[in-house]
Amino acid sequence: MTNWIDHTYDVVVVGAGGSGLRATLGAAQQGLKTACVTKVFPTRSHTVAAQGGIAASLGNMGPDDWRWHMYDTVKGSDWLGDQDSIEYLCRHAPDAVYELEQWGMPFSRNEDGKIYQRPFGGHTTEYGEGPPVQRTCAAADRTGHAMLHTLYGQSVRRKAEFFVEYFVLDLIMDDQGACRGITAWKLDDGTLHRFRAQSVVLATGGYGRIFFSCTSAHTCTGDGNAMVLRAGLPVQDTEFIQFHPTGIYGAGCLITEGARGEGGYLTNSEGERFMERYAPSVKDLAPRDMVSRAMVMEIRDGRGVGKNADHIFLHLDHLDPKVLAARLPGISETAKIFAGVDVTKEPIPVIPTCHYNMGGIQTNYHGEVVIKKGKDPDAVVPGLMAVGEAGCVSVHGSNRLGSNSLIDLVVFGRAAGLRLGETLKANASQPELPKDAGDQHFARLEKARNANGSTPTAVIRDRLQRTMQEHCAVFRTEESLAEGVKKVSAIHETLKDVKVSDRTMIWNTDLVETLELENLVANAMVTVNSAHNRKESRGAHAHEDHPERDDKKWMKHTLAYCDLESGKVKIDYRPVHDYTMTDEIDYIKPKKRVY
Ligand code: FUM
Repeated sequence: MTNWIDHTYDVVVVGAGGSGLRATLGAAQQGLKTACVTKVFPTRSHTVAAQGGIAASLGNMGPDDWRWHMYDTVKGSDWLGDQDSIEYLCRHAPDAVYELEQWGMPFSRNEDGKIYQRPFGGHTTEYGEGPPVQRTCAAADRTGHAMLHTLYGQSVRRKAEFFVEYFVLDLIMDDQGACRGITAWKLDDGTLHRFRAQSVVLATGGYGRIFFSCTSAHTCTGDGNAMVLRAGLPVQDTEFIQFHPTGIYGAGCLITEGARGEGGYLTNSEGERFMERYAPSVKDLAPRDMVSRAMVMEIRDGRGVGKNADHIFLHLDHLDPKVLAARLPGISETAKIFAGVDVTKEPIPVIPTCHYNMGGIQTNYHGEVVIKKGKDPDAVVPGLMAVGEAGCVSVHGSNRLGSNSLIDLVVFGRAAGLRLGETLKANASQPELPKDAGDQHFARLEKARNANGSTPTAVIRDRLQRTMQEHCAVFRTEESLAEGVKKVSAIHETLKDVKVSDRTMIWNTDLVETLELENLVANAMVTVNSAHNRKESRGAHAHEDHPERDDKKWMKHTLAYCDLESGKVKIDYRPVHDYTMTDEIDYIKPKKRVY
């Protein structure tokens, strides 16, 4: 029997990024006894790296309307987003931002003293017919950093309890398919913990680290998604991976889209502003999938810059240095450190870099995890919720608009808090957990801790990241995806041969990375299989053998299950919601996505 230290809460939130903190705060506001369990200190969560801003139709810089925001988001998603959820997002975005402002988030200001908003790709006016809109609310280019500090302070004020540097092992599921809690390993003293809860909220972020070049922190290993797969539940739409056009060449660090929002532009080796050819009306402010594809096409056609003609230039050198200092201080510093570039004088070398997972754990707009059960495609899994990048609500469909991520975090983090308040009773009695609950999770940890194969964790991880980069990036083909499926499956086999050198339980980063690697491999398997399965091009899934969007066959969400022992992936589908939440806006009918 494992020596568990037991805890009981009404709500346990796993992860302390923007959505995890907003859900924690929301549950605490409802008077629920709330714990937030996180593998890094809250203000070090990956949301800290979010730069350019948070979208909401405040209309501080010109006319705007939540319905225009909704139209842009549906179009950006290439019609794979669920329109009831998108309505929920855009309708509640302004309130969610004002709430942050009132809690003290230090937004930049316009001349009237209101929250400053900048243009971002794909955000327009008049249902796409009008000019681009300034909708992205910013705290210079450190918006995520400001948000995390605000939400953490407010959560502490509401007496939420934090369990920091705890690595969550798995979900405790009962025989009826309900989630009853989690198990975790405390990294600094090696103790093992079992948290019983009426509801568990997964806010574990994305899994960008399956790629070799990504803007994500080392911690972005899709732990929550892997827990869901191990529980026998599917994940949704994982084939849709966002490549941000402007990662620093060679380093992967993000240069915010806000740089183009403030007037920056891209050029090829001929000095041409090539986006004018690909998206004549919005040019450099086209959505990310389109800009990334245009950059790759320029490079393929021999018009890349640099010694190997393999990247593109981003120019900010024509902008007023005062604007750069006020609006883009963070990326000016990043460009200096990671590219050796003074942005007031030289262009920054950039390349499309993995940035975001549109797919994740499927939920309704309350944040409740849903599964297909009989005829009901949206049956709620009792006791389990998911928010933020780990979740798939699905507002981003096959391509997310820039600055719609931070707003997703707070709108749906808040929605989860409200739902918990509606459905739970504070301090309600909970059935005892079976005595051996979680023992299998500990057995998995022990197996990894004692693994004595011949391939170090870092070697397998490197193989995985290079494979995904080669076979599942901006452009995909039948052949490259089929090859990717085989290679990732072989990598899954090599996990049996992993070598862990550190056998201790205290600060064993070798073991943490091995458990994270298991999670990464699970995420890569569903991603590459789902990508191979989808025979069309839509949003970020650009399939060269099936270049058109095919609404007849493929206007549906992918559900991918994975048996992590055998490595077998099973694919199923779920309908896209072709209805809105209220009758204040009609369903936005699909049409060709041009800008
Ligand atoms: O470019 C950026 O600042 C990133 C924003 C986002 O991913 O929403």
